[in-house]
Amino acid sequence: MNIKQLESFKKTGRKITCLTAYDASFANVFDRCGVDIILVGDSLGNVVKGDKNTLGVNMNDMIYHMQAVAKNVSQSLLIADMPYQSYDNAKKALKNAQQLVDAGAQMVKLEGGREHQDIFKILQKYNIAVCGHLGLQPQSIMDMGGYKVQGREKASAQRILEDANMLEDCGIKTIVLECIPASLAKKISKQLSIPTIGIGAGVGCDGQVLVSYDMLGITQNTPKFVRNFLLSGNIESATKDFIQAVKDTTFPADEHSY
Ligand code: KIV
Repeated sequence: MNIKQLESFKKTGRKITCLTAYDASFANVFDRCGVDIILVGDSLGNVVKGDKNTLGVNMNDMIYHMQAVAKNVSQSLLIADMPYQSYDNAKKALKNAQQLVDAGAQMVKLEGGREHQDIFKILQKYNIAVCGHLGLQPQSIMDMGGYKVQGREKASAQRILEDANMLEDCGIKTIVLECIPASLAKKISKQLSIPTIGIGAGVGCDGQVLVSYDMLGITQNTPKFVRNFLLSGNIESATKDFIQAVKDTTFPADEHSY
């Protein structure tokens, strides 16, 4: 998978599938099963390190896990999260993004909108592909008052919509929309010419991402938007069922949406 193919999926309406991976073995299963994008997410703070949030993940963690994943993947597009405080300013963002690319990432993901415009521009200038992340931003949960659905009020919905347009104008390749009303995610996805990848954002997004440990039913107290695909058998069949359900739009269903 490359970025051009991602763009072509948006044009043809072919749904995009994405799962997180943090190690070589899981990444290899997802790659073999045909997952379009593997995200080395900073959710590794929760599911690998055992922390309550993603704020304790640092660049060393991300490089270590990115390198492990990259060794065993040949087809899926690889995205690495930029961890908390790794993109406080443009110079720092460029240095850290370059390190993630050197570790094997084809794209880096960072949370936020207009406040990072200078960062998006410098990464674009140095040809580093960027994935945006709007709606619920786990690195800002202290400011957001916890893990809450975003964009329910008119003003915050408008802000997310404007940020999504701004990201597209800055040359961002794709945007993760996390925990926003399905109607808002659908509106954004229709307006943009770059693909949106939803998590808790309804079936109207151009693709879907899940934390793999949630998809496999390993984590407890999962959010409403998660479906346990492992109930269907083993890890390979769960992965294939996830891919099929995203492509035929049976996942996410209304019960997984806000
Ligand atoms: O870190 C992560 O796993 C993510 C997904 C929730 C999109 O950012």
